[in-house]
Amino acid sequence: MRDAQPAAVYLKDYASPDYLINRTELHFELHEDHALVTSRLYMLRCDPGRELPLVLNGVALELVSVTIDGQALEDSEFQVEPETLVIPKAPDQFVLSCVTRILPQDNTSLEGLYKSQRMFCTQCEAHGFRKITYYLDRPDVMSVFTVSVEADQARYPVLLSNGNLVDSKVLEDGRHSTTWHDPFPKPAYLFALVAGDLKYLQDSFTTCSGREVDLRIYVEEKDLGKCDHAMLSLQNSMRWDEEVYGREYDLDVFNIVAVDDFNMGAMENKSLNIFNSSCVLCSPETTTDKGYQRVEAIVAHEYFHNWSGNRVTCRDWFQLSLKEGFTVFRDAGFSADMGSPVVKRVEDVANLRTVQFAEDAGPMAHPVRPESVIEFNNFYTATIYEKGAEVVRMIHTLLGAELFRRGSDLYFERHDGQAVTCEDFVLAMEAASGIDLQQFRLWYSQAGTPLLRVRDEYDADAGCYTLTVQQSCPPTPGQDSKLPMVIPLAMGLLGEAGNLPLRLVGETPDPETGDNTHRVLSVNQAEQRFVFEGVGERPVPSLLRGLSAPVRLDYNYSKQDLCALMSRDDDGFVRWDSAQTLATRVMNEVEQQLLNRSKDKELEVDPILARAYASLLEDDSLDAAMVADMLTLPGENYLAELAARDGGANVDTIHAARVAVHADISKACTDSLLQRYHALANASPYAATGAQIADRSLRNTCLDYLAAAGGEYVELASRQFTDADNMTDRLAALRAIVFYGDDGQRDEALASFYQDWQHEVLVVNQWLQLQAMMPGSDALDRVRGLLKHPDFDMRNPNKVRALVGVFSAHNPVNFHRPDGQGYRFLADQLTLLNDINPQITAKMLTPLTRWRNYSGRDQLMRAELERLAALPSLSRDAFEVITKSLQ
Ligand code: BES
Ligand code: ZN
Repeated sequence: MRDAQPAAVYLKDYASPDYLINRTELHFELHEDHALVTSRLYMLRCDPGRELPLVLNGVALELVSVTIDGQALEDSEFQVEPETLVIPKAPDQFVLSCVTRILPQDNTSLEGLYKSQRMFCTQCEAHGFRKITYYLDRPDVMSVFTVSVEADQARYPVLLSNGNLVDSKVLEDGRHSTTWHDPFPKPAYLFALVAGDLKYLQDSFTTCSGREVDLRIYVEEKDLGKCDHAMLSLQNSMRWDEEVYGREYDLDVFNIVAVDDFNMGAMENKSLNIFNSSCVLCSPETTTDKGYQRVEAIVAHEYFHNWSGNRVTCRDWFQLSLKEGFTVFRDAGFSADMGSPVVKRVEDVANLRTVQFAEDAGPMAHPVRPESVIEFNNFYTATIYEKGAEVVRMIHTLLGAELFRRGSDLYFERHDGQAVTCEDFVLAMEAASGIDLQQFRLWYSQAGTPLLRVRDEYDADAGCYTLTVQQSCPPTPGQDSKLPMVIPLAMGLLGEAGNLPLRLVGETPDPETGDNTHRVLSVNQAEQRFVFEGVGERPVPSLLRGLSAPVRLDYNYSKQDLCALMSRDDDGFVRWDSAQTLATRVMNEVEQQLLNRSKDKELEVDPILARAYASLLEDDSLDAAMVADMLTLPGENYLAELAARDGGANVDTIHAARVAVHADISKACTDSLLQRYHALANASPYAATGAQIADRSLRNTCLDYLAAAGGEYVELASRQFTDADNMTDRLAALRAIVFYGDDGQRDEALASFYQDWQHEVLVVNQWLQLQAMMPGSDALDRVRGLLKHPDFDMRNPNKVRALVGVFSAHNPVNFHRPDGQGYRFLADQLTLLNDINPQITAKMLTPLTRWRNYSGRDQLMRAELERLAALPSLSRDAFEVITKSLQ
């Protein structure tokens, strides 16, 4: 175990900075074996006259020199600590200049300045800037940056930083330099630098006020043909933010750079976004439909940060959700408008329930605005992002679109150029709308997923229908008891002939309201009753439409109720959700049989599900993408999550039950699956349009069911595999062969796929992913073997995620092997990764932290965590995750 235990930082200890940095001038000299960074910081003490030591952040830096107003400091005038430079006495106002030597070529953490292949690049959020030079590396210190970069011209013809290019020079010895100036004050985490041999795709955008913006996407020459979709997405985002939020772009240039080695998806550095190449590059041959949609969403997300994040930034990292939650909400609105809102919502909710609800129920649970943190890198979580976006979405629901927009305008107007808090956001929303959000604020401070328990009663004689709603929220680390929250409950009532008009007792009907079959109830007490009158029949309640709040719902639906909602409710989300609940119910019944049965008894699968699925398949007036989502059985991780709540998940029965139900549907619906499969074949060339994506999605869902029957249906997949003209269809076919074909078919298809695509890194990653998810008892051996494959590289996060990450998180049966070898495998890899990339190591620990959910295997999982905890060089990132999950 490490000697000094990393300490927590607390939100309550926030203090404003002692010094400001008005201007920041940086000069970079880039070499193959080191880089020299010279800073000139125009410092100002906030409270003049009050002598305070200047404490600058700096990590892994070699300090070459330090001067104040041109005067070198004596050794006695400063102290270099492992993570700080302390200057006990400094004037009120001065220029501090430091020269630091750093080693980008050895920086495998991918934070600070590092090399990705032949390119230099930076990643500074959250605390990467301190690995470049000594600085006040906190988001509430905002400064105007001027940056010059000097490097070898032949190797690095392109030298970029934030803002406008103001100078470029040819120097001696084949070197050259450029100088960049960003007029907008920004925190250091938004600083960026890129140097490399890059080509660019160029286009432009004219803003609403007539400003012409030069748009460029920089990539390696071989990838120039894969930038069109990202460019179009950028232009669409720029227009959308003007139209929907009134936000105009504020500089004459906007650059995106693609790099292969990147810890996250992308980063919103001012006017110089840096992207993981997997989140920019697209071509029909190499990118799936999901990939296209991801690129569109992430380009939008980073672009939207220009206002929600950069122009208005966070005061401190406890406020991270201020920019991330809001921006995820904004990019979800964009994606909804670019495609189908219901389909987008369904995907987001599926992800929220599997990932965020699990996090909120586990040892790392934290509020949307955390109160204490050991390592901020660990707080780029589903709770900050996805639950944070849900919180903004609820504000939108409570205020309505118009008042929400007024609130957002006021927020940007009040706080432009400032570093602010979640509270400031809520205050702007309140001020603009006149709506009191006092109790609503609990969403920022209370962790855990609330449970809504709904019971109903129908009085036929009185025509009265009563909903009784109770809310509760389970304890989470550090929070034993919770207060009732404000939960917007969107709902309707379904009758025989459709949704019924809604009238609460005592309410006078408003003749103005067009649609009175939908409303949002405000739940804000531990228990409440809502009585509807004029209800002529016993309805089926359609509850939590659109998932109007990030809560779980407990209502005793009968299977018939679910079928009714699934086929007839007005709300598309509820139709999908009811299908999920019905499928879960049917799978749970099979799990019970598996646990209790005598070996030779046939499993019984309630035919109600196949019947419901068949009628979806046979109705081609329905949106194909929705039908595909409705036919997709809830995943094993989600089922395990639900089971954990009722006393422990058994991965093997969950898997077996899901396979049995899947097979049952395949058999019962063969004709309609086959009919749709053939009818949906596309004759026109590939395009990532909504209509085509929807058709491919349903067609490949049909293929997945059909191929499960083996034999001739695997042939169907083989044919598709050979004939496909795009990666979506090819990969879906390959998956079907790998999952349902025999060993020979599987190995042959995998080998030929690799043969065809080995030159495309991003495709090879998809090939790794598929093998990591593969069922069958030889999966772990195969994954172990792939670690030695020439295309695997432990220093590349995309590859580590594709193989080790996907195996641990998306191959539950093999990860949870009874012999514990899956856990051992992960811990072995994380032991190596810990010395390379702490941020990715900590992220990939997640599956082990869920040990409490797996009775019978929990001790094996714990043992691996304890083995990791004892590593002498354990990073702060991993330390936090491991100690919290063992507590
Ligand atoms: N600011 C983040 C990127 C980031 C996060 C950098 C943590 C360093 C540490 C960026 O805006 C972001 O949120 N990216 C997401 C994608 C987005 C679509 C949710 C990502 O990279 O996954
Ligand atoms: Zn973001």
